[in-house]
Amino acid sequence: MKRFDRKTHWENIYQTKALKDASWFEPTPDTSLSFFDEYKVPLDAKIVDVGGGDSYLVDFLLVKGYQDVTVVDISEIALERAKHRLGVLSRKAKWVVDDLATFRPPEKYDVWHDRAAFHFLTDEKEITNYVHTANQHVNPNGILVIGTFSEKGPQNCSGLPVQQYSETAMNQRFGEFFEKRTCLAMDHITPSDTRQNFVFCSFRKREEHVGVQDGIHEVTHDGIHLPFTQSGTFLRSMGQMAMR
Ligand SMILES: C[S@@+](CC[C@H](N)C(=O)[O-])C[C@H]1O[C@@H](n2cnc3c(N)ncnc32)[C@H](O)[C@@H]1O
Repeated sequence: MKRFDRKTHWENIYQTKALKDASWFEPTPDTSLSFFDEYKVPLDAKIVDVGGGDSYLVDFLLVKGYQDVTVVDISEIALERAKHRLGVLSRKAKWVVDDLATFRPPEKYDVWHDRAAFHFLTDEKEITNYVHTANQHVNPNGILVIGTFSEKGPQNCSGLPVQQYSETAMNQRFGEFFEKRTCLAMDHITPSDTRQNFVFCSFRKREEHVGVQDGIHEVTHDGIHLPFTQSGTFLRSMGQMAMR
């Protein structure tokens, strides 16, 4: 039996389907953008859209003036289509072809966004790897926004099974490293007028506990003394991006 090749699968889809005919197409990524407003993400934040394909989120972010946007996708064709559409503006973004199941990002981010890519990981090891990668590559205090099919949503997409999530299930997956903030349920209406129920959850990265404690201060690797907070955590993220 022929082994399933995820990359070939997605390249075939992008080779044969125009963006506007794809079930996931949305002319304006309103829900995703609402999280940028909610968290007042500053224009110099480092942003990654994982499984971004050739969606319009990067266009909207660049036009709003975001200066550090990376789009990651397993499909090179998808990213090439997005770059072609954006023309010279595409040079303002970074484009990475990689598989989220094994992705090792080259840098850390303040905002990690994923609409409809995480739910394609159905293997326990790959899901765990994704969660750990997000933990290691989102800065303390940073934001994680993930939109997946809900338990009322489809069980398959693009010929592949998906893992559905409830708000509770999302929290079980990410709660160890991220504090759940807003979750919303929404219906996406596909170009063929079908309703797909999504759960979109946002999380804030928990502060890191690193370095040694002297009872009053945490002494970090670089010898900086950070004050101990009342909640018993250290202000590791002091001085970092001031998002709400
Ligand atoms: C349903 S589309 C969503 C695209 C985009 N996020 C949006 O909201 O329009 C899923 C995207 O995830 C990408 N994808 C699926 N599995 C992936 C994986 N393991 N690693 C990286 N990208 C993946 C696909 O190539 C596709 O672009």
